[in-house]
Amino acid sequence: MSSEVISREVKRRRTFAIISHPDAGKSTMTEALALHARMISEAGAVHGKGGRRSTVSDWMEMEKARGISVSSTALQFSYSSPDTDTDVPNVINLVDTPGHSDFSEDTYRVLTAVDAAVMLIDAAKGLEPQTLKLFQVCRHRGIPVITVINKWDRPGRTPLELIDEISERIGLIPTPLYVPVGIAGDYRGLLDRRTGDYIHFERTAGGAKIAPEEFLTADQAAEREGDVWSAACEESELLAELGQDHDQEMFLAGQTSPMIFTSAMLNFGVRQLLDALVEFAPPPRGRESIDGVERSVTDPFSAVVFKVQAGMDSSHRDRLAYMRIVSGEFERGMVVTHAQTGKPFATKYAQAVFGRDRSTVDTAFPGDVVGLVNAMALAPGDTLYIDPKVQYPPIPSFAPEHFSTLRVTTADKYKQFRKAVDQMDAEGVVQVLRNDVRGDASPVLAAVGPMQFEVVTARMKAEFNVDTIIEPLGYSLARRTDEQSAPELNRQRGVEVFTRSDGAILALFSDKWRLQYIEKEHSDLLLEPLVAAAD
Ligand code: G4P
Repeated sequence: MSSEVISREVKRRRTFAIISHPDAGKSTMTEALALHARMISEAGAVHGKGGRRSTVSDWMEMEKARGISVSSTALQFSYSSPDTDTDVPNVINLVDTPGHSDFSEDTYRVLTAVDAAVMLIDAAKGLEPQTLKLFQVCRHRGIPVITVINKWDRPGRTPLELIDEISERIGLIPTPLYVPVGIAGDYRGLLDRRTGDYIHFERTAGGAKIAPEEFLTADQAAEREGDVWSAACEESELLAELGQDHDQEMFLAGQTSPMIFTSAMLNFGVRQLLDALVEFAPPPRGRESIDGVERSVTDPFSAVVFKVQAGMDSSHRDRLAYMRIVSGEFERGMVVTHAQTGKPFATKYAQAVFGRDRSTVDTAFPGDVVGLVNAMALAPGDTLYIDPKVQYPPIPSFAPEHFSTLRVTTADKYKQFRKAVDQMDAEGVVQVLRNDVRGDASPVLAAVGPMQFEVVTARMKAEFNVDTIIEPLGYSLARRTDEQSAPELNRQRGVEVFTRSDGAILALFSDKWRLQYIEKEHSDLLLEPLVAAAD
């Protein structure tokens, strides 16, 4: 495959994730994006609102009919902006972040596979805890963020209140590309800040179809909307005076965030979001290896595994490793090398997965996500490549905040239990901590979110037929320490030292006051925060 072909494919790709608090409308927005990409002809599969069609299986039928690769991990669709005259559509990869209400390292890992994020905010609620945490990961990884204020069809805050909240609480300066015409709850359309024109949206029955757009000049808009239009113009001028206009460099540097107001349910503002992704979000780029050498997108094939999932479906007793392609072209069946073991890996079973449905992926390019079936040897962070050799830095592990012991209930299952613990450790489902005092019978599990413990016990039962009990430990935070500091720390009340399976020595503390006290009294001890990257 010539490098021109790869360059062309890369240029038209955008790989992003939606980060949001549960209920902000991520599923509805995903569906609205698919509708705008003409991947589905009607919205409503997600929620089956009155007048809208229902059941998720419609998706699968449509997927089969159109041969689109939909997966619970990545949704790929092509999109042509009505504003461009090129006949080469863009390819959009929407990588799904797990939708649970709490955090798992999984969510963080997914964000290592994207080039941009859409921060979806409920207009009535503003910034919520999960959005904040996810945003911090984006900032840490230098992922540019587009902000979407969703549910503008319902009463909510004012644009300026939301803008202030985002600037003040997270230090990201929103640069609205459009100003909504009509307050939250009275969403009529958008003032395009670049042209000064008005885009008026029309509702469709049940919000099932793309909302027709009517384009009006400023004069026509003033006549049609009166005070509501003047208010939007004033807001836009105020933003210009404050310097809150889009600046591509500042956006890519993570300082500003283009902002769009939407109603995912009515499909208002969704085209504008897609256009912004195409216009501003960066295409896939090369990556630096652990040796500091840059592998460019047109170099031979390489990919990073960012997620491993097993036991999703009892009829497929296998393990899927999802890789994001970094460079070169992927062709199903090619034999690649697993950098961590040096062993060859055959990619005969490359799939896209959506729920129970799977479809085969034959070719893929940088930015794309491919699921590899029966990838027993692969773990998150691993590199696959075609010569010359490359190995990318490991995915950082995050500061755990929840700690529990895991115990098997029947002694005769101990062997399976140990095997299962080792496997889940390797997959990165949880972090496994050990020390001599506790021994191996009941390892300590550490997680970013408590949901990870539930995943462990459920999988122990389903995949290994082992009943286990999780018991919370009275620790709430961890610090990295070293062998010199360990004995003194172990002598302290409310502190216990462990070794993690990657060799890191961690001290667990009952609470932050205990930690603060020890830091003050024993300033010679090494107590390093595990903010983001543990390595
Ligand atoms: P999530 O994936 O982020 O958790 O959110 P989801 O799309 O499931 O949306 C959560 C709720 O918010 C749903 O309502 C959905 O219909 C509603 N919603 C999403 N986007 C919009 C929007 O732009 N405007 C309005 N008004 N509502 C929106 P629900 O009542 O919880 O579920 P359902 O009855 O629709 O199934």
